[in-house]
Amino acid sequence: MQAMSNYQVKVQPQGKAFSVQQDETVLDAALRQNIGLEYGCRSGNCGTCEVTLLEGQVNYPDDDIPAGLADPDYNCLPCQAIAASDLVIEADLVEQALEIQSHTMPCKVQHHEQLSHDVMRLMLKLPENQRLQFLAGQYLDFILPGGEHRAFSIANAPHDDELIELHIRRIDGGKFTDYVFDSMQDKTVLRIEAPLGTFTLREESIRPILMIGGGTGFAPLKGMIEHAFHVGISRPITLYWGVRTERDLYLPDLPQKWQRQHDNFAFIPVLSEADSSWQGRSGFVHEAVMQDTANISDYDVYMTGPPVMINAAAAAFEEAGLSREQMFSDSFEYGAQNDKS
Ligand code: FES
Repeated sequence: MQAMSNYQVKVQPQGKAFSVQQDETVLDAALRQNIGLEYGCRSGNCGTCEVTLLEGQVNYPDDDIPAGLADPDYNCLPCQAIAASDLVIEADLVEQALEIQSHTMPCKVQHHEQLSHDVMRLMLKLPENQRLQFLAGQYLDFILPGGEHRAFSIANAPHDDELIELHIRRIDGGKFTDYVFDSMQDKTVLRIEAPLGTFTLREESIRPILMIGGGTGFAPLKGMIEHAFHVGISRPITLYWGVRTERDLYLPDLPQKWQRQHDNFAFIPVLSEADSSWQGRSGFVHEAVMQDTANISDYDVYMTGPPVMINAAAAAFEEAGLSREQMFSDSFEYGAQNDKS
């Protein structure tokens, strides 16, 4: 049998190189060889993995340009791209998240609790004597019977790892979230792959931190904030939580408690459809950030939530001078087939 030939991918400016087979994506090849390309959705939608393609050719499934690729003339999306030649790409590498290998494992629903009209908190337990090693902000995939995956951010911090906490938003027509809300019982055994993703706190930075969460985008930020408190990060952290109406703030007391307990933490909820009884901020969450922030280029900005929120925020912040190296995002693809939350 003839071996399938490989192409070489070189990552600049680090000069690291890895091989990619003709039947795997550039991202899969990189992860297999522990090369820290950033990624999020792995489905071509969020744009997190976008890198500059300096040399070479790539193909995409069905020859379609993926939705998340902002600049097809000069860039590529490694999570979808199949190499058609040797490649040279330009990318920032993240090492820390990839030091932890992801695994597939069973877990049990320890308990679940409805936090609001459309958000369920799930607490998962791994088999006896097992703990999940992960970094704050990462996510896991449920592997459904039949092999489909559903991604959810981990909402707790690694030091508090007895159970894994998820915040699951009900999606119209989402078969997995319908199951979670309507029929899932405690003690149910599910299969997960974890940990995944490179949306993690850059702890070595000295810049103040802005966090912007839309809806259940609060979940990974909660994990990061609790981790930051635990390791004693003293940089200012401001959390903006954007939701439609007040009832969508599904854990309103928790960030208020953090604010009372930590001088370096501030919480600003922002409602896009506030009624007249609301005393706080209203409008688009990124506009509230812009109104409050004189020099956004001084900050590290972490954003999680629906793509429309992240894209609007990223465009406004970039226009105001924030460099892409200081923007970190995790985009949630809500939809019946891909109900990441
Ligand atoms: S577009 Fe590649 S990881 Fe989301």
